[in-house]
Amino acid sequence: MPEPSRPAGDSLPVEIDTNVPHEARVYDYWLGGKDNFAADRALGDAIAEQIPTIRTMALANRAFVGRAVRYLVKEAGIRQFLDIGTGIPTHGNVHEVAQAIAPDARVVYVDNDPIVLAHARALMTSTPEGKTRYIHADLRDPRSILDDPAVADTLDLDQPVGINLVAIMMYFRDEDRPLEIISTLLDAVPSGSYLTISHPTADFAPDAMAGVVAAAEQSGISFQPRSRAEVEELLVGLEVVDPGIVPVLAWRPDLVGDAADATVTSLRPDQPAPDPESAYYWAGVGRKN
Ligand SMILES: C[S@@+](CC[C@H](N)C(=O)[O-])C[C@H]1O[C@@H](n2cnc3c(N)ncnc32)[C@H](O)[C@@H]1O
Repeated sequence: MPEPSRPAGDSLPVEIDTNVPHEARVYDYWLGGKDNFAADRALGDAIAEQIPTIRTMALANRAFVGRAVRYLVKEAGIRQFLDIGTGIPTHGNVHEVAQAIAPDARVVYVDNDPIVLAHARALMTSTPEGKTRYIHADLRDPRSILDDPAVADTLDLDQPVGINLVAIMMYFRDEDRPLEIISTLLDAVPSGSYLTISHPTADFAPDAMAGVVAAAEQSGISFQPRSRAEVEELLVGLEVVDPGIVPVLAWRPDLVGDAADATVTSLRPDQPAPDPESAYYWAGVGRKN
């Protein structure tokens, strides 16, 4: 089993500071995971006071990852993924969803949280025909991801790639130049590649989202919700596939996977469809032509 790639030098911390909340662990807490600490739970609870349904929303976002990957493998023929801002391994990791349909699928995972690095082995459970690797790197330096040997070793950048930026771009303010970062990634992959995005928004519940921003920033986490038009800008130059940029719950609910997915999204066929705007995320998938 290959070792996860670590950053060159010691530019990116690999020590885990449990006294400071971190995005990956707060999200893990909402998803019902065990890899979180008191500081993460305190921030998770503070945000839940603003948005009592935040746990359901996190699960809805997570289920979108599965549906988008299922779409890309089944309908778009994608066989390789670059999943950036992977999070702590959980139900329906990208390679598990992809390889259940195409056992030869290959995935490179990327995150900057040392605790995700610590759990990276759970992301290395590839089928024999496929391959998975993990890179401990920061999306703020997209070249450090693209130039990591694990990318060349795992992905064929002459073939289409599915790039996932799911629930990560909100940590990038406009002054962090998110569009430049996305362009650098897209320039490295051929036409026929896809970009999958989900993004928290204040469009559906402005007051609640203002409270989330305040709680995150009090804890030192930069958090910028974006409007639909701003999310559309992140997909600029791409052909947005059907059904377009829509509330995360409304993105291809027909692609729901196993029973666990169905439970978390309340998308079971025997249940009334949830109000799509009850999860405050926009979601979309764009194709590079
Ligand atoms: C909310 S989680 C999303 C996890 C997964 N993509 C999903 O949607 O289920 C965001 C993840 O992005 C990671 N992250 C945040 N900023 C990052 C950065 N600058 N570079 C790499 N990863 C980052 C966090 O550590 C966390 O694991």
